[in-house]
Amino acid sequence: MKLLVINGPNINMVGIREPAIYGSRTYGEMCRLIDKTGDRLGVAVERYQSNVEGDIVTCIQQAYGNVDGIVINPAAYTHTSVAILDALKAVNIPAVEVHISDVDAREPFRQVSYPGIYCEKTIKGHGFQGYVEAMEYLYNKYGK
Ligand code: DQA
Repeated sequence: MKLLVINGPNINMVGIREPAIYGSRTYGEMCRLIDKTGDRLGVAVERYQSNVEGDIVTCIQQAYGNVDGIVINPAAYTHTSVAILDALKAVNIPAVEVHISDVDAREPFRQVSYPGIYCEKTIKGHGFQGYVEAMEYLYNKYGK
């Protein structure tokens, strides 16, 4: 099994950006946790982070035929991006949406998710652990 973990804009800044909301652990620490989880589950993991919407769309398109599951934190594009929603629909790969913070407890504009319309599950407010839970979910459902 191969999982693709996608992070959108400003997720590379966690540990620096708004630590009261996103915590003090860095993006590098997140990457190590994701890689370690892949090793533990025995699945191949590809990570991708971009601040550019179209590059995320291209990454999703390139996953077609190459990846068995997608974990995606579209970050701010969550609340705006029909293009990311359409890319997920186009490749039709099982996907789980992750948010580090509990978006439902924040501003009203964060309570809309376009990619979430496609994703079969959304994990929010569990910090970095949400990525682990999403990977475990996809492994348990599609990887065994
Ligand atoms: C986020 C929540 C989004 O509203 C925000 O724009 C982010 C991060 C999260 O992981 O909690 O950049 O996706």
